[in-house]
Amino acid sequence: MVKICCIGAGYVGGPTMAVIAYKCPDIEVAVVDISVPRITAWNSDQLPIYEPGLNGVVKECRGRNLFFSTDVEKHVSEADIVFVSVNTPTKTRGLGAGKAADLTYWESAARMIADVSKSSKIVVEKSTVPVKTAEAIEKILTHNSKGIKFQILSNPEFLAEGTAIQDLFEPDRVLIGGRETPEGQEAVKALKDVYAHWVPDDRILTTNLWSAELSKLAANAFLAQRISSVNAMSALCEATGADVSQVSYAVGKDSRIGPKFLNASVGFGGSCFQKDILNLVYICECNGLPDVAEYWKQVIRINDYQKSRFVNRIVSSMFNTVSSKKIAILGFAFKKDTGDTRETPAIDVCVGLLGDKAWLSIYDPQVTEDQIQRDLTMNKFDWDHPLHLQPMSPATVKQVAVVWDAYQATKDAHGICILTEWDEFKTLDYKRIYDNMQKPAFIFDGRNVVNVEELRKIGFIVYSIGKPLDAWLKDMPALA
Ligand code: UDX
Ligand code: UDX
Ligand code: ADP
Repeated sequence: MVKICCIGAGYVGGPTMAVIAYKCPDIEVAVVDISVPRITAWNSDQLPIYEPGLNGVVKECRGRNLFFSTDVEKHVSEADIVFVSVNTPTKTRGLGAGKAADLTYWESAARMIADVSKSSKIVVEKSTVPVKTAEAIEKILTHNSKGIKFQILSNPEFLAEGTAIQDLFEPDRVLIGGRETPEGQEAVKALKDVYAHWVPDDRILTTNLWSAELSKLAANAFLAQRISSVNAMSALCEATGADVSQVSYAVGKDSRIGPKFLNASVGFGGSCFQKDILNLVYICECNGLPDVAEYWKQVIRINDYQKSRFVNRIVSSMFNTVSSKKIAILGFAFKKDTGDTRETPAIDVCVGLLGDKAWLSIYDPQVTEDQIQRDLTMNKFDWDHPLHLQPMSPATVKQVAVVWDAYQATKDAHGICILTEWDEFKTLDYKRIYDNMQKPAFIFDGRNVVNVEELRKIGFIVYSIGKPLDAWLKDMPALA
């Protein structure tokens, strides 16, 4: 029986390994992590991450051929294939701070693998890493290996949160990069055999190591670039009277462009896009390619611009001040169907409104109060794309209430901001909400989920990203 061990039981490692175990009953999969609470949660009925379909998959195989454990060394030493799926945040200090990936967790995992291994292994990079990381890992492994052979593969994960299980069941492609030596190719084949249990052959792509590593950064950069492109258009739509949804639809009908990932929004979030682009920028700079670096930086600048623009629009519409006004925040996660708040645009919008002394009442169906308070008080590292936002002081924390219902959040509010596209926000009783709000009642839809015409009929003053402006908003010049 082939034994797989995955180091890191996070958003990537957990669901990916659960699906491998589900699809490959003949393979034993152990997911290990140094975090005791995480592993405890994986072994309980309250999984540590919210992901549609995940519960069912875990229930089916946990205890059968899927195990979650903190005994990292035991499971690594027994495994034939070791996936490394630890976190690779952006460095916050030292050389490359604010851009380069922090490989501390990766390096420590690699050293541990070398220390505990007694037999040859395939080591698979699952977390997104800078190009050429495999080379560094190879060096650590071979210099510490006591003669044991390691083959390094790059197998980047393309799942998106909220649709992880579906993405894993039916991936557009699985990418495996390996050395072009006979041993390297043998390792590629061994990993390919795992995926071949359920992924059609023509969807399993094999490349060299560097192409696989770079493809992951490139794919995320291209996806983020589409959002920044449509978000840049949304500003122009508002200025000209065009409707961004109509423009996106017309543009996406061109089969060379395609319809997906063209939804204008308050900005992209998530743990990957910004981190991977900053990383790409850093790699370009290190390779003497400042023009290429500049090109990709602009994707992040437009994203920051979109978030600030949204805050400015709110403040300017509400008579240039939100001081002491109650604003309801509907949605805090970085997208629907996840409780994840990493890099969520909601943080920047909330901190911006708090800076103008607003009182916030926040509701998200999946994010806990603890998480929201932590996100809003955290000392955000000052990237080289500052948003000019200050983290909250303990005094400002009092300006934030987290509630468990959209009606409670909006009661007596002056304005509503929709920051995550949760389905339930489409079917709220907006008449009831309107009746319980201060007048004039404002809605700022950062995700284009509400029916603008219907809400205007109820009496709301509605701002929806990239849509023709209300007469009211036209008369209120945006703040500079
Ligand atoms: C373009 C648009 O495609 C068309 O829809 C619009 O109506 C007019 O402008 P055209 O300029 O005739 O059409 O040709 P196109 O096939 O788009 O190529 C434009 C340039 O891009 C060419 O120099 C082509 O060689 C180059 N190109 C195209 C690339 O370098 N790489 C590609 O992948 C595609
Ligand atoms: C992304 C990639 O999609 C995935 O392939 C990769 O493995 C990890 O990074 P994820 O961050 O989980 O996945 O979610 P994604 O659906 O890509 O959304 C990222 C952000 O972009 C979200 O904040 C989302 O709301 C925003 N977005 C997405 C838009 O604003 N408009 C769109 O059209 C699509
Ligand atoms: P991702 O979104 O990439 O999955 P997460 O932060 O959700 O990232 O998960 C990474 C996990 O890796 C965390 O649970 C963390 O505790 C774990 N981890 C980091 N370093 C190690 C290590 N050396 N050994 C075991 N687990 C580790």
